[in-house]
Amino acid sequence: MSFRIQPAAPARPNRCQLFGPGSRPAIFEKMAKSEADVINLDLEDSVAPSDKDSARENIIQAIGDIDWGNKTLSVRINSLDTPFWYRDVVDLLERAPDRLDQIMIPKVGCAEDLYAVDALVSAVEAAKGRAKRLAFEVIIESAAGLSHVEDIAAASPRLEAMSLGAADFAASMGMQTTGIGGTQANYYMLHEGQKHWSDPWHWAQTAIVAACRTHGVLPVDGPYGDFSDDEGFRAQALRSATLGMVGKWAIHPKQVALANEVFTPTEDAVTEAREILAAMEEAKAKGEGATVYKGRLVDIASIKQAEVIVRQSEMISAQ
Ligand code: COA
Ligand code: MG
Repeated sequence: MSFRIQPAAPARPNRCQLFGPGSRPAIFEKMAKSEADVINLDLEDSVAPSDKDSARENIIQAIGDIDWGNKTLSVRINSLDTPFWYRDVVDLLERAPDRLDQIMIPKVGCAEDLYAVDALVSAVEAAKGRAKRLAFEVIIESAAGLSHVEDIAAASPRLEAMSLGAADFAASMGMQTTGIGGTQANYYMLHEGQKHWSDPWHWAQTAIVAACRTHGVLPVDGPYGDFSDDEGFRAQALRSATLGMVGKWAIHPKQVALANEVFTPTEDAVTEAREILAAMEEAKAKGEGATVYKGRLVDIASIKQAEVIVRQSEMISAQ
């Protein structure tokens, strides 16, 4: 480890973030009753410009009226290039009850975007004497966002989570696809006449994970648009989990169980991690820094790998 210790990310489950348009209050109760760890009520791109004001009212009302249990409750505000975002922030903070945990800032392009929102949020919180500090989450979904991802991850002590937004990201990058995440038919390697599909989101995901882990922020995979394709969702989510992401969005309720399944360490994985820790305890007692577990090397680094899985599992079952 560097002399600078890697900070821990917030210790709360973030396996699934369920989205719903603020203009569709009939589904809010269903969202609250879902098994998602995080609820994202949307004021941004699932809400038509003509509905922005009424959606904001629906959400402010629902934050107080609905029992959101122990979920993290987040509202996605409009992006900083619109005329809507300041009203989203001011009205939410002046009029919504303290139950609101965080806001999601979309299309973040530079650290100053967070600085601007932080300044406004801090002023309204102080003016209203709000006791609970609002947390932030952001979406990286543009070329600028990914270019400045590390600065963004470090931009505000309020920042708890960062998601990859595949659709806007693809558009901003000029990628030749209309798919929202997942396998892209034209992104393949050819070997001996056989196509082998590769993952066009991989580098963006790893950049986000590295920035997040450097600054103690939760890295999250965004939406998978084809909600009739469970196996495609699962494959995308398994890749994200393997890369270090802690969860994924659901844009339809049927995706919630899929995300929870993938981002909850399996019993087998936890058992194996505990066995590795036990094997290393034994090795340590013998004054050894490495040993053999199931025919493979485990050493002091393996302790840290195993602890990632055990900690994640314990945090989830403590919920
Ligand atoms: N959260 C909770 N419940 C939802 C839901 C959501 N996001 N979307 C739909 N439901 C409910 C429906 O009300 C319906 O309930 P019922 O069985 O009691 O009637 C059930 O789930 C099945 O819904 P279905 O008919 O399959 O979907 P739909 O046509 O009503 O809605 C979408 C499909 C995609 C429009 C809708 O899921 C949606 O708006 N998703 C979120 C979009 C969003 O927020 N995007 C921004 C982030 S990318
Ligand atoms: Mg978007």
